[in-house]
Amino acid sequence: MALEIEPKPLHPAIGAAVGGVDLSQPLETATIAAIADAWMKHIVLVFPNQPISDDALVKFGQQFGKLEIHPSLAHRASRNPEIYRVSNLDEKGAFIPPDDTAWQYVSQSWRWHSDSSFREIPSNGSILHGIEITNEGGNTRFANLYDAYDALTEGEKARIDPLWVVHDHENILDLAHGRNARPEGGAYEDLPPVRHPLVRRHPMTGRRCLFLSPHTMARVEGFSEEEGRALLDELIAHATEDRFVYRHVWTKDDVIMWDNRCTMHAVEPFDNRIIRRVMHRVTLVGEEKPIPAV
Ligand code: OGA
Ligand code: MN
Repeated sequence: MALEIEPKPLHPAIGAAVGGVDLSQPLETATIAAIADAWMKHIVLVFPNQPISDDALVKFGQQFGKLEIHPSLAHRASRNPEIYRVSNLDEKGAFIPPDDTAWQYVSQSWRWHSDSSFREIPSNGSILHGIEITNEGGNTRFANLYDAYDALTEGEKARIDPLWVVHDHENILDLAHGRNARPEGGAYEDLPPVRHPLVRRHPMTGRRCLFLSPHTMARVEGFSEEEGRALLDELIAHATEDRFVYRHVWTKDDVIMWDNRCTMHAVEPFDNRIIRRVMHRVTLVGEEKPIPAV
């Protein structure tokens, strides 16, 4: 099965542009299968020029699985709970004040992370529509965590293969210091900490990859705080070297679909008090707990 136009790689390790499909229309089964194949191969797919409605984004996502509902009301589109609004503007288009939890929570996407790593079953993938994009900053970087793992020495792999990491949604909220600026604290659901393998096996490709999500990683089991932090920082620095990272400079109405199981991503800082940025995301529910490498 093939797409009408062969996906065009955007970086040697990760990312390809897909043309010739209209995401606002229901897709044929063969096209869905071809996109799914290309997704597994290129990990991040960019669909340029897709001025689609939120409803169409939801329908596009549903062709690849069930969709998550974000744990806080503050980030859901009011008309469409499956839409997670990644924005420094409220739904009326006004800037959210910087002391607001929602503003600070969204600012945490500047840190490297994998979506929903705070869940016991993290997300399979995310699909993001660039509605209002920035001219300065606000690009999004994606790291290939298969290649980052493969590039480690055999000794390093053997050391980290059996390790488990505690991930905690509270970490994001702790980083969002404005949480207490609102009486209800932003109405974030209480989510207990979860443990995930540091090295996981991708259920579709069978390949091993790092599972890093710095904004939720609290500690490495069996390590002291400092030792665990040092190990994670070393792995994060390694995995975010340019050779593993595609940097996407947004054009309005790009839609990007990425695999959360084998990547992490980060938004490049921009002046979010004065530069408008509106992105709408749907998030594919994970099918199973991350599979430990060993
Ligand atoms: C996300 C996110 C990326 C972006 O949608 O998961 O982290 O470019 N945002 O806004
Ligand atoms: Mn994200």
